[in-house]
Amino acid sequence: MPIFSKYALLRGADSVRRQSQRLFALSNAHASASASAAARPALSQFRDILSKQITGIKDAGTYKMERIITSSQSTEITVEGTQKRILNFCANNYLGLANNPEVVNYSKELLDKYGAGLSSVRFICGTQTIHKQLEKKIAQFHGREDAILYASCFDANAGLFEAILTPDDAVFSDELNHASIIDGIRLCKAQKQRYKHRDMSDLEKQLQSSTARLKLIVTDGVFSMDGNIAPLPKIVDLAAKYDALVFIDECHATGFFGATGRGTEEYHNLLGRVDIINSTLGKALGGAAGGYTTGPKELITLLRQKSRPYLFSNSLPPPVVATGIKVMDMLMHSDQLSQRVQSNTKRFRDAMTKAGFIIAGENHPICPVMLGDARLASIFADQMLSRGIYVIGFSYPVVPKGKARIRVQISAAHTTDDVDHAVAAFIDVGRSLKVIK
Ligand SMILES: Cc1ncc(COP(=O)(O)O)c(C=O)c1O
Repeated sequence: MPIFSKYALLRGADSVRRQSQRLFALSNAHASASASAAARPALSQFRDILSKQITGIKDAGTYKMERIITSSQSTEITVEGTQKRILNFCANNYLGLANNPEVVNYSKELLDKYGAGLSSVRFICGTQTIHKQLEKKIAQFHGREDAILYASCFDANAGLFEAILTPDDAVFSDELNHASIIDGIRLCKAQKQRYKHRDMSDLEKQLQSSTARLKLIVTDGVFSMDGNIAPLPKIVDLAAKYDALVFIDECHATGFFGATGRGTEEYHNLLGRVDIINSTLGKALGGAAGGYTTGPKELITLLRQKSRPYLFSNSLPPPVVATGIKVMDMLMHSDQLSQRVQSNTKRFRDAMTKAGFIIAGENHPICPVMLGDARLASIFADQMLSRGIYVIGFSYPVVPKGKARIRVQISAAHTTDDVDHAVAAFIDVGRSLKVIK
């Protein structure tokens, strides 16, 4: 053996030995750290407190198990522990774009060109041309002056109210608004008023008696548990009457609701009447991640200066930005997908109602199949899965007691056969569990 390759072999063996010594030392350090941690009363008390809470959640029957999906997100998925492919009816993948080849390929292209991430917040060195491009497209899609990106819509909701409202201002929020809106409002110093769910006379009473400088009415465009819609015509009338502003969260509307997917405003024929829109890129718009606020240019400019989740969190990664850009282009070019999700929704709702089920909500791809009893909802969902249909039962505390349901979500990517297959399985299980005749 030539002398240099002998040395190379020796060096290789040496490096393997050093690596295993390091691993051994690390595992020893971990072992002694956990031994001394076990002896620390604060830590064992902490573990006890957490375990009791976990047991409480399990005893209440509200412990959430996570099923492990072994394929990409789609209308047909594979799930760990099952052999067959399963029809998925519980994703927010309303347009079926989560694994769309055009979207995925563009995402790969921009990954190659712009890298995996920015390692920076936007204002330090985290703004690329593609971030500005996407913000422009979002504003254009909604017909607004400007838009600002966040890592999620949760962040957009968390960062809005505190940045724009003071104790002189008041916020009027529907009692069933999304958790992220509730948290965002908690963070601000404005006067906080909650009106009963979609109750316009309650809202009016509160607006009437307010002397606040700015009044902001805040509502989900579509409420995700019930698939019901904010009474926007009345809200914008009240806003005009009492000189208030209107904010809507369009996570369950952007891209697919309304004739061309412009959302709740379009559904109600009120395009342009809402002042501030927050929405997500993590549902219909490719399903990756990201959220945004769109509205008046002064608002967006101020949010870039003051909004904490924007200022203190990393910039959106290029492949995620690419997803948003490609989807926005697709939606501005054609409304075929939003038409398709609407016709699938009608097919499902009509057939299920005809079969005797009660479907809550209005013309929306969120189709809650009302069952009432929590145990029944859970057994129903399990039996649907054994028939190859993936749906989830929702019960208290996510929905009110006695209003358990299975929330079906329709996608543009479902075929009519998929929809019919799901309806047939519902009828089969519904009859065997005596929910319908
Ligand atoms: C109405 C509503 N707002 C906000 C969010 C948060 O969106 P994101 O997943 O982008 O944080 C959700 C998601 O569940 C939602 O349903």
